[in-house]
Amino acid sequence: MKRPYRAPPGRPSQTPSGAVVINGYSARWLNQDFCWVYPAEVVSRPPNLKPGQEVKLVDEQGKALGVGLWDEGWISVRRYRNDEGPVDAALIYARLDLAYALRQTIVETNTSAYRLVNAENDELPGLRVDLWGHYATITLDAPGVAPLIDWVCAWLDEHLSPRGVYLHWRPDPREKARFEPPIPAGLIRGHAPPGDVRVTERGLTCLVRPSLGKDVGLYTDMRANRALLEPYWGGRRVLNLFAHTGFFSVAAAANGASEVVSIDLSESALERAEANFVANELDPSAHLFFAEDVRAALDRLRRAGERFDLVILDPPAFSHGPEGVMSAGKDYPRLVAACLRVMEPGGWLVAALNQGEVSPRDFHNAVRDGARRAERPLQHLYDGGQAPDHPAAAHFPEGRYLKFGIWRCMDA
Ligand SMILES: C[S@@+](CC[C@H](N)C(=O)[O-])C[C@H]1O[C@@H](n2cnc3c(N)ncnc32)[C@H](O)[C@@H]1O
Repeated sequence: MKRPYRAPPGRPSQTPSGAVVINGYSARWLNQDFCWVYPAEVVSRPPNLKPGQEVKLVDEQGKALGVGLWDEGWISVRRYRNDEGPVDAALIYARLDLAYALRQTIVETNTSAYRLVNAENDELPGLRVDLWGHYATITLDAPGVAPLIDWVCAWLDEHLSPRGVYLHWRPDPREKARFEPPIPAGLIRGHAPPGDVRVTERGLTCLVRPSLGKDVGLYTDMRANRALLEPYWGGRRVLNLFAHTGFFSVAAAANGASEVVSIDLSESALERAEANFVANELDPSAHLFFAEDVRAALDRLRRAGERFDLVILDPPAFSHGPEGVMSAGKDYPRLVAACLRVMEPGGWLVAALNQGEVSPRDFHNAVRDGARRAERPLQHLYDGGQAPDHPAAAHFPEGRYLKFGIWRCMDA
């Protein structure tokens, strides 16, 4: 039987075996339920630790601060529990049970694609699990989280019997260059689907490819925002910018939009968007799809005198296009202004930004600056955010990454 670790009173004379000693700054954060320890916060550590090895955390006075898994990236330890028990199957199963119970409460019955585990926000640091109908994807942030894979697969088998499970890695951009996955990404259980997988969101169909990692084809975190818009599409001419596989466009068309114009740089994304229209028995030829840089498209549409009742602006954080590099954080006011120049009087701007480091206040300011540039005063109608199957732990501000709002032009 494992003997619980007891820290000696006062400062330990040496590093307790198996324990990582952390500085006071890190200890203060861990005491407030934060769960990462950064390399600069490690005072001492046992030799020869390997990524994924279980370690105890103690402060410099020897006080136990929980148990986590060691890593060698921009995070040194992810803490899984703040008592002294092990990181084992029982713990991971219990956390998965809790995560699943939440989803059973909050995910609509006519929805088969959702996030089952949202990492730190479900007390499973570094681990995301998404369900795509009968398939699942496990996405890990770092090699140190790899010991969880078998437990997660066993839990999935027991509770959901997926036909296939894919593994994806999602290294932090700061360590992407030297990232070496200990297990290759790809199908790790069951079999691959024969083609696109049909999943549902609030009764609408989306065709997804779980083998493609972040290009699966549906951003389930936007589900609550699409739900918020459902009563408002009817009779409106909609412009969907950075449309990707067109699920906002499908939602608009299915809920009575008079015409939906979808713009994306990627032709293959737009082909998938058209296939999503067909999958929902919507005629794609009644709508328009342009493979074009959004900045060029907005200019072209403005010059042609095209106007829209509702414009969706959901850019990626960074992109390279024919019009050069685009950084959403920096270019947002310019993009908002360009949207407002193709907006009917009284039109609605639906704006989103998927960037944790931009605060809600800065996001609102960027929209306001765009409105000033275009000289189209706006009134704010709604704030949205990520759907509740992407919860954000209150003590983990990084978890609230998705900014979303709806504004109306005040000129009608
Ligand atoms: C994060 S996705 C947008 C998500 C989408 N709104 C949705 O809810 O599914 C980013 C998309 O922007 C497209 N994209 C990136 N840069 C672009 C640009 N400069 N002009 C047009 N599309 C661009 C990419 O091809 C990709 O499909």
